[in-house]
Amino acid sequence: MLRHKLQCFDCQREPAASEADFRCTICGGLLEVKFDLKGKKKPAWDHRQLSVWKYREILPIENEESIVSLAEGGTGLHRCRRLGRELGLQKLYVKNEGENPTGSFKDRGMTVAISKAKELGKKKVLCASTGNTAASLAAYSARAGMECIVLVPKGKVAGGKMLQVTMHGAKIIQVKGDFDQAFVTALELTKRRRELYLMNSLNPYRLEGQKTLAFEISDQLDSKTPDTVILPVGNGGNISAAWKGFTEFQQLSIAKTRPRMIGIQAEKASPIAKAVKRRENKIRPVHNPQTIATAIRIGSPVNWPKVLKAIKESKGTAETVTDSEILEAQRQLATLEGIFVEPASAASIAGLKKLKTNRRVDPSETIVCVTTGHGLKDPSILNRLPKSQTGYSLETSDQTSIDNIERAL
Ligand code: F0G
Repeated sequence: MLRHKLQCFDCQREPAASEADFRCTICGGLLEVKFDLKGKKKPAWDHRQLSVWKYREILPIENEESIVSLAEGGTGLHRCRRLGRELGLQKLYVKNEGENPTGSFKDRGMTVAISKAKELGKKKVLCASTGNTAASLAAYSARAGMECIVLVPKGKVAGGKMLQVTMHGAKIIQVKGDFDQAFVTALELTKRRRELYLMNSLNPYRLEGQKTLAFEISDQLDSKTPDTVILPVGNGGNISAAWKGFTEFQQLSIAKTRPRMIGIQAEKASPIAKAVKRRENKIRPVHNPQTIATAIRIGSPVNWPKVLKAIKESKGTAETVTDSEILEAQRQLATLEGIFVEPASAASIAGLKKLKTNRRVDPSETIVCVTTGHGLKDPSILNRLPKSQTGYSLETSDQTSIDNIERAL
């Protein structure tokens, strides 16, 4: 493993980090892991299989025996010719993170953060979540033999995710209100009880795992950097982790350039996209955020400084999409490409469609849309589909009924 340190993202100093909330003890800024990559060559990892741990030299785990894994990463980068044709784009790819062990990109971060927790001797982990982080943490803590507590917004978590956390035996606390209230509660609990280890994306070790998304995209394109990478944004951990990953590959001279990063938010939960559009360097939190994409129903995203910097440095942008645009994109991706993703993930496709319509992407660009979670996470979408798509019902198998069905084929 290469040398690294924890550093404040804002003041660049190396404070004695407060582990309770992972904030800089000097200025209160977000923390990040800094690897010393100056003058370093690419580690000899080419022979290894594509996965998070392929890149272990630049992951912050001291001892390989600490690694807790369920075989995460190595997800498909799918060339989408049929959808591309429909949208008028020549080189469209989908990096499908729903192929991870618990069905979302969170597993990339969780394998690293839980391994770190083990290395630090932690026994009890906790997070606030809209569902996927909770499902992932529940699985990895079960694998590590740790106690797990998840705080979720009451009645607002997709059914598949609730089933996962329940099945893995996490202690579930349903908080009245949104994710934002659940997060404040989680922070308060970690301050009161020192034995609790926070696993939200404030934990910089998680983002280290998530940066491997960028490494894999680069490797899957034979080190040719895509022009544009589009991701759904909630708390902003993933887009900033991906940007860090692309930056580190450039520092190691593996890639020559870095892509333009574009973040997509749901219209009524879009503090980051609004800040970008208004050209402000701070967000204004949204109260009572609303969207069918419950995974990104967040009004006060904690990683906003990292997101705004990634978008600015990459000359990227942010866009908003409506719930019906999200549902339409979800169906298009499923019917044209066979890739079934949850609504939050489809936001990246819906955003791309809007950007193409507004001529903010070029037809010949290489574009990667990241789809972050599997479609089976949220079966409630079935109720939102038009009747014509949910099948015919055959009451009896008499000849007339079969004749009617045949006519409809
Ligand atoms: N897509 C999905 C499917 C998600 O679950 C999330 C976040 C995001 C996108 C946004 O990623 O927060 O890194 O910008 N889900 C979190 C959770 C909040 O608790 O599962 P982000």
